[in-house]
Formats: sequence, structure tokens, C-alpha cells
Amino acid sequence: AAERATLSVRVDEPQWVINRNIYGQFAEHLGHGIYGGLWVGEHSTIPNVRGIRKDVVAALRQLQIPVLRWPGGCFADEYHWRDGIGPRDQRPVRVNSNWGGVTERNAFGTHEFMDLVEQLGTQAYVSVNVGSGTPQEARDWIEYMTSDSQSTLANERRKNGRDRPWKVAYIGVGNESWGCGGEMRPEYYADLYRRYSSFIRLADKHAKRYASGANSSNYDWTEVLMREAGKLMDGISLHYYSIPNGRWHGKGAATGFGEDQWASTLKNTLKMKTMLDRHIAIMDRYDPDKRVDFAVDEWGTWYDPEPGTNPAFLYQQNSLRDAIVAGVNLNLFQAHGDRVRMANIAQMVNVLQAMVLTDGPKMLRTPTYWVFEMYKVHQDAHALPIRLDTPDYHYGDVDIPAVSASASIDAQGRVHLSLVNLDPKRSIRIATTLSGSHATQVSGRVLTAPQMDAHNTFDAPDQVHPVAFDGAALKGQSLSVQLPAKSVVVLELR
Ligand code: AHR
Repeated sequence: AAERATLSVRVDEPQWVINRNIYGQFAEHLGHGIYGGLWVGEHSTIPNVRGIRKDVVAALRQLQIPVLRWPGGCFADEYHWRDGIGPRDQRPVRVNSNWGGVTERNAFGTHEFMDLVEQLGTQAYVSVNVGSGTPQEARDWIEYMTSDSQSTLANERRKNGRDRPWKVAYIGVGNESWGCGGEMRPEYYADLYRRYSSFIRLADKHAKRYASGANSSNYDWTEVLMREAGKLMDGISLHYYSIPNGRWHGKGAATGFGEDQWASTLKNTLKMKTMLDRHIAIMDRYDPDKRVDFAVDEWGTWYDPEPGTNPAFLYQQNSLRDAIVAGVNLNLFQAHGDRVRMANIAQMVNVLQAMVLTDGPKMLRTPTYWVFEMYKVHQDAHALPIRLDTPDYHYGDVDIPAVSASASIDAQGRVHLSLVNLDPKRSIRIATTLSGSHATQVSGRVLTAPQMDAHNTFDAPDQVHPVAFDGAALKGQSLSVQLPAKSVVVLELR
């Protein structure tokens, strides 16, 4: 029998603004995330602007990236910013001990990152070193980047080629301080957060300061941080990755998997909902006015590395399954958008759930890229309340809702509806009521493919890409949608 779902969207009751930063990205000095993927150097035969790849920037600009987190990740807590300024041929060479022990020549430093930020038209989110740095080093970096004064640090920036100060919109105070950032206890980190953030604020009053938040379901971390330092922070983060087998050793392959791993990956992805609900409930107790942002500043799929690649480089293919994971997570962030005001998928280029993959001069857009491109219509729109009654998708011991949905209304009054079918075999008819809608037209695009692990390759880069969707019919306030199996659909009603 055909599967059926019902959805009601209250078009005339707009809620919170969906912060565009939910569509944020993350780029770490890890594998080819920066070197090769973004930075090729001015003398490369790969077309570039001041060393930054033109093809990758052009592709990423299409996503309207709102914010970019850098330089890590674990790398941030062993990064010393002075290594990455001044003449490139005189910069020190370090060992990237977190990510394969490879040589870090520091060719890509503060000026190169800020150039990338400007080329992308995005905002900077800089993670400062708490684990192996000092408050002085952190505040000096901020002064170097943002001061308009005639201080020695501001003039050093000018001497290095940048006259005007840059804007640093967000500062991350350490990264995973419970793990690679220093194996700290929350009480200890809360005190360090207070100390670092005081001096960071002296250097720049405008940057928002985000505390290093919990590892997935470690609610105690959020509790202690909110209790001990909540009043001094502008945001706190969460890191949670979707891993098919749910364990760090033998995670599961990025392609060539069976339905068992499709189902378990999506089941694990949906745990994000519980984590958001529970961390936010803790935040609400300490901050009922919702002043403090919740930033899921690392999320996405994490698989076994591609065979034949350096396992420390976290390079993985990206398939239709990743597109489904992206759609489900973005719908969840929007549904919690009165508190979730940033999210940064890990990572933008060549690492984990990437937007683009590169191989020498070649580049491809992943299925995840296309979800971000389809969903960008939600950026800064008002969320709309929805009620969804969906059948379940069953496989083995997995029993999860088959449909995920989200809706928003933009400044021009256009309604966008994003729908994801998690079931790889059954299409679902969704009977939708759009109360308060005056729309007369519906159009949209769909992202799907015949195989669960369909993906783009350098030889066939357009296997998975969105096409026009003809499965929606609008009659007054009733919208009928035939949602294909394993698909992401974004509709526009006007
Ligand atoms: O994104 C890869 C790594 O995952 C980051 O460096 C770290 O913060 C997390 O454990």
C-alpha cells in the first residue's frame, strides 16, 4: 500500500528568524582541507587568486556561506598565530601532530584566511588556542586582527599588508576542551573560559565569544558551563557526528554499504534531536531569555577513510545518504532555531562530510553541497510551525520517522518547504494543509538517485544533482506531494 503522511503548515504564524549561520562551514588544517583544497599558492598552475583556488571559491560562493570556522578543530589548540604571519618563506615549519604528523609550513595563516573570508563573502569564526596557549597570546591575536589603533600589533598587521582592521564576528574559546583541547574537566574549563574571555573582550568588545561545548550527550558539561560561566558567554557549542556503526573503530564505509548501514546512520543522525532538546533544556534553566546562542559547530557524517588515502586525513566520499543526513540535521536546527543560531558542518573541503572534493586541478560538488544550495532559501527567513504525521521507516531493529520536514517564509512572502524521505524504498504521499496561505503556484527541485550510495566522481561529477520536481500539486490551501524514496525536495510556494 502507498505510504501516506500528513503535514500542516501555519503560514500565518511565523516564528523565529532562522539564523543564516546555521548554514555555516568549518575548515581545519587537516589533510587537504586547506592545503590543496583551498590553498594552492600563488605560483600554482591551478587558477587561483592570491593562492586561493578560483574553482572552489566560485562553487562555494553559490552556497552563500554565512560564517567560516578556522583553524580547527583539534589543530586550533596547538596553533600559534605568529607562525602564520609575515613573509611566507620565513614562517616556521611545524608538525601537525593531531593529523598525521605531517609538515605544516604555515603558508596559510591569518592574512590568507581573512582573504578567503573576503573572497567567499562570509564572516570569520576564529578558534583561539586555550589548550597550549595563553590568554596573552589569544588577546594579542585579536588585537592584531581587529585593532584600528596605532599599536605595535596593529602596525605589524599593516606592515604585513593589511591596513584596515578585519572584523572577527565570532571567537571560539578553545576546541573540545574535554578531549584533544586539553582533556579538561568542565569545572576547570569553565574557569579558563572566564579567564580567556575577559582578556579577549578587552581586545575586541564586538566579537561574540563562544565557549567550547559538550561532546554529544555529555549534558553535565553544558550544565557546569552554563552554571559557572553562562553569564559571560555569547554562545556555547555542541559537537556530534553521525557514524554508521556508532563506534570509533570500524565506523563503516562511505560507499558500497547495505541498507543496514543506511538505516543505522540515519538512526544515529536523529539522535541530534534528543541532544538539542536536552542541552537546550539545560540552557533554558540558566538563560530563560535565550540570550546565549547554541552553536553546533561540528556535525556531519564520519566514515572509515577512503581506501588508499592517509587515514589521518579523514577524506571520505559523499553519497546520497549524506544528502539525507544533511537535510535531516538542517531541518532539526531550524526547528530549534530560537536557540540554535549557528551550525558548522565538518568540513567544507576534502574532509569528512564535505561540500566539494578536489584531486589536483579537478573539483566536484558533493550531494551535501546540493542540499546546502537547495536549502539556502531558508537563511534569515522566519520559521513556520508545522505538524507532521509520518509513517515510520523500519529496517532490522531501526524504527524511525520516514519523513523530516521544515518550513519558512521569507521577506518576500515566499514559503519554502524542505522535505526529506529517509525510506530508501518507498515513496510517500504527503497531504499538506497550508493554513493562511495565499500562494497560487508551487515549484521545486528534488535530489535523489537510483542507488543509496550514488555519488559524484571526478570522471562523472554530475551523477547526483538536483532537478526540477513535478510531484507537487497545489489547490487552494491543499498541497499534495509525492515524495520519492530516498530524496530531498525543496518547494517554493508563491
Ligand atoms: O572535524 C575533525 C575533528 O573532529 C576536529 O578536529 C575535532 O574538533 C573533532 O574531534
